[in-house]
Amino acid sequence: MSSLTELNAEIESCRICELAKHRTKVVPGDGPENAKLLFIGEAPGWNEDQSGKPFVGAAGQYLDQLIGLIGYKRSQVYICNVIKCRPPENRDPMPGEILACSKWLERQLDLIKPRVIVTLGRYSMSKYFPGESISKVHGRAKRIGNVIYFAMYHPAAALHQGNLRKVIEADMLKLPAVLAEAGKMEEEKDRPSQLNLF
Ligand code: URA
Repeated sequence: MSSLTELNAEIESCRICELAKHRTKVVPGDGPENAKLLFIGEAPGWNEDQSGKPFVGAAGQYLDQLIGLIGYKRSQVYICNVIKCRPPENRDPMPGEILACSKWLERQLDLIKPRVIVTLGRYSMSKYFPGESISKVHGRAKRIGNVIYFAMYHPAAALHQGNLRKVIEADMLKLPAVLAEAGKMEEEKDRPSQLNLF
């Protein structure tokens, strides 16, 4: 059994917070264990709760299109959420739930070790771009240690507000440059450990 399969089994048996009582399936995440590019959304919705897979509803179909824009396939990237269980009625995650679930996200990141982490929406953004607002920080990248974090609007926001589609697509098209920078970082160990790209 791979380490990620073992971690997923642990996540699937989690009963740390109240969301365990309401879920149909836990949604740990999906993608290859050696993914260089990792997306973090908010929380599973109805479709994800039913299937146990992240981003399989309308927002997920749009995310697949966005990933296609840069010539990637969904099967090449890792996709997960800040929260692994669906909040009832798709309400916003509560601070205690985010805190309870953060150990799973941290263990996923420790294991997968992506070079680039894309935050989708406010909840994952506020973990890595604290104090920022999504309207200001979207499309910006920053390096911390050996990882580049890149903030984007949530694909569902672009589905609800048509004018955001152009914005999210333009942000997505910046990712190849971010990935190239992350590739160089691996070779050049003596670069500064903090860098703002955009
Ligand atoms: N929205 C999210 O943030 N995550 C999902 O998995 C689905 C919709």
